[in-house]
Amino acid sequence: MKRIFSGIQPTGEVHIGNYIGAIKQWVELTEEYDCIFCVVDYHAITVEYNIEELRDRTIETALILIACGLTPDRCRLFIQSHVPEHTELAWIFNCVTPIGELERMTQFKDKSRQHRANINMGLMDYPVLQAADILIYKAGYVPVGEDQVQHIELSREVARRFNNRFGDIFPEPQVILSHAPRILGVDGASKMSKSMNNYIGLLEDKDAIWEKLRTAVTDVNRVRRADPGNPELCNIWTIHRAFSREDELLEIDKGCRQASIGCIDCKKVLFKNMMDELIPIRDRADSLKKDRDYVIDVVRKGAKTCSEIAKKTMEEVRSSLGIFYP
Ligand code: AMP
Ligand code: TRP
Repeated sequence: MKRIFSGIQPTGEVHIGNYIGAIKQWVELTEEYDCIFCVVDYHAITVEYNIEELRDRTIETALILIACGLTPDRCRLFIQSHVPEHTELAWIFNCVTPIGELERMTQFKDKSRQHRANINMGLMDYPVLQAADILIYKAGYVPVGEDQVQHIELSREVARRFNNRFGDIFPEPQVILSHAPRILGVDGASKMSKSMNNYIGLLEDKDAIWEKLRTAVTDVNRVRRADPGNPELCNIWTIHRAFSREDELLEIDKGCRQASIGCIDCKKVLFKNMMDELIPIRDRADSLKKDRDYVIDVVRKGAKTCSEIAKKTMEEVRSSLGIFYP
């Protein structure tokens, strides 16, 4: 069975960009692939963070993934730091990765701009650890949002360089993009992101979600209700496509272009469909919150089975490198 690996950082609240850009697709892919999903806590420490919060967010992120449907009967789910071979392999990959490749990564450049006072080695090395996450399981497919495509390309490059020098051990992983690979925030200006105040949280309260949706930027050229709109220029439309039925979408597309419906009418339909999908997830999250031991048990078992794979890969890697390991 073909193997998939993907990860999510435990920084901030999981938002609907994460959900429709990645997680929703992960759940579908579990039907066809051998899937491994990971809460990448060692990636999260590359920027300033709150120590107590990291602990809570890590287990909360795992809890949300389970609530979304990534249950242990469908996939392996674990916490990155619980399988220390990831960081060990990252060190080895460091030795085949040119610094220049890392310096030109868009995310590194963006984050260096945002965190001028803390441009640390880990921030630059972030994509190498990501390559190790994927390749330690020899995963061939990586479902992510568009912002991660460049990092996956680097993983391919790392695999290629390693294989050329030390022998064919790693596959060159391919990206799987969802239908909504880049969701903008409610500001309609930049990518919906945990570090910006432009997101709709997956577990946010219903009224707060409506308030954010109601005031969210749509097609900026549609100034008055009577102006015809263009769904292709509207961020709400990209979210609609992830939550609404085909017949509703056709009707809204037509209504918007002919100005027979307004943005609020459109948002009301979206809100209903979004809540219909999110309510069962919240209900499951609420019951999991009462049973944290279960969540801890899931990630512990996930780490155990992943460790077995990771250890085997490391044996192969050490031996191909010429490391003395009696
Ligand atoms: P992160 O929260 O950065 O760890 O991202 C987890 C997953 O969600 C990754 O696959 C991202 O590419 C995806 N993702 C994050 N933000 C967005 C967004 N605004 N639109 C689409 N996908 C996203
Ligand atoms: N960098 C990814 C993000 O911010 C998270 C991540 C870490 C990841 N390791 C990974 C994603 C391996 C896919 C595969 O979204």
